[in-house]
Amino acid sequence: MEYPKFLMDHFQSPRNVGEIADADGMGIVKNARCGDIMQMSIKVEKGIIVDAKFKTFGCGAAIATSSIITEKIKGRRVEEALRISDETAKEIVDQLPQEKLPCFTLAANALRLAVDEYRCNKQGIHEKGGITSKDLEKAIS
Ligand code: FES
Repeated sequence: MEYPKFLMDHFQSPRNVGEIADADGMGIVKNARCGDIMQMSIKVEKGIIVDAKFKTFGCGAAIATSSIITEKIKGRRVEEALRISDETAKEIVDQLPQEKLPCFTLAANALRLAVDEYRCNKQGIHEKGGITSKDLEKAIS
């Protein structure tokens, strides 16, 4: 199966690679099939995702889909981000080889955790002893 041009573009020139130092939410997930890791961080101001970045040891499909998702969620409300991620999944799902689908869900799952952490931080749950992405990062490094 040949990858569509827009996926190849995001793979060859990925957008939003890196880590937000003072992120409001961060999600780190591992692909159980290949062992690759994905980290997604978001910066939120007044409920709007003003920045989103990813880092991964993943393959081209993981890189391309993460690049697409981070592009699409910037400037959108946090509540919209997961819906946008799901819609993106539906758009791309038919254009990836079946065996690459877990690579795509890596980005979507990392985003879900980043949003969860943002919501927990906002409600002060971590101050009460919850596990943060920093704890998780230490645990898997
Ligand atoms: Fe590991 Fe795609 S093969 S993320």
